[in-house]
Amino acid sequence: MWSWLCKHCGCRRCRLMMNKPHDELILGIETSCDETAAAVVRGGRDVLSNVVATQHELHERYAGVVPEIASRAHLQRIIPVVRDAVRDAGLEYGALDAIAVGNQPGLIGSLLVGVSAAKALAWSLGKSLIGIDHIQAHLYAGALNDEPIAYPALGLVVSGGHTSLFHVDGPLEFRLLGRTIDDAIGEAFDKAATILQLGYPGGPAVDALASTGDDNVYDLPVASLGRGSLDFSFSGLKTALLYAVCGQPAGRGSSATFQRDASVFTEKEKADFAASFQRAAVTAIMRKLHRAFEQTTVKTLLVGGGVSANSRLRAALQEFAGNHAVALRLPPMEFCVDNAAMIAGLAVHKLRAHDLADVSLSASPRSDAAA
Ligand code: KG4
Ligand code: ZN
Repeated sequence: MWSWLCKHCGCRRCRLMMNKPHDELILGIETSCDETAAAVVRGGRDVLSNVVATQHELHERYAGVVPEIASRAHLQRIIPVVRDAVRDAGLEYGALDAIAVGNQPGLIGSLLVGVSAAKALAWSLGKSLIGIDHIQAHLYAGALNDEPIAYPALGLVVSGGHTSLFHVDGPLEFRLLGRTIDDAIGEAFDKAATILQLGYPGGPAVDALASTGDDNVYDLPVASLGRGSLDFSFSGLKTALLYAVCGQPAGRGSSATFQRDASVFTEKEKADFAASFQRAAVTAIMRKLHRAFEQTTVKTLLVGGGVSANSRLRAALQEFAGNHAVALRLPPMEFCVDNAAMIAGLAVHKLRAHDLADVSLSASPRSDAAA
């Protein structure tokens, strides 16, 4: 059957541009949490530069992101990070076609730094301004430096703030299938690292330690939430790990006291906890993914968010895609965690659809996509 799909990017909306070159230059800005990032992407695909300034050292002692510290650090870093991204791309500001910014969801004070910078740049340079949803951008990361994505797709976002499944009909066409009813999976990994005294950010530390552990030593729970549910829950897993490591508490809530902490265990024992936790967390994701896959007909599996850097999850996803003959878009590590290339890449589809913002663009802690 004849189709209107653009041969350059697979997009349905830019069909009028089919014979024009797809080489729009977009500067993306991302400040939703604790990474200050800017990148230039050409034609929604070629990443010309990708600069990320992390703030991990600032938040480490608090074992989590402190919003006020994050927004102050964004303020200090945003101008040099943007300047580096434009310079690394070998461009002058005047060559850009548009400025895109992640304006939701995230920490409001952090988002506002990026949004203000993007507005100022777009206004002073006379360029188009584009607001981008961070969650949707995570599911576009697999298109960077690669062939256009074949839709429809099943989208899995696994990050520090979100754990969601979507039916995706195009770069900007999303239908929510399921999401976490409590903690996000990345949050659970970070809390597991705190319980095991592994430092911050916890996900990579749990991943590394788990590789030396036995994942069958502890039988930690995998939440199901009833037949047919595509929602997730990680708070029971987190609490089960806490009690397994620290023992049953005396008292309740913030006044609870525990019998011990992770320091009484050997490195090998801690590795067994990490591996058992990781097995349960990844099993929870894969079960829901499998269930969603059975309920839909898709050509591609899109995965994004920081936890897609997890080695066990990556292996499970690759095995799943192989067994079910579905194309898997699992971004390289640099595009899994928060970055601005995914913002600039997705933005080209809004530019082509003339879905532009103006100086009234605001930031929001919530995502429309995950609503
Ligand atoms: O997408 P992201 O960079 O930021 C948010 O949008 O939240 O995700 C950050 C999360 C953190 O919770 C971090 O611990 C987790 O991704 N993470 C990992 C790994 N690398 C990062 N979790 C498990 N295994 C990893 N290798
Ligand atoms: Zn993210």
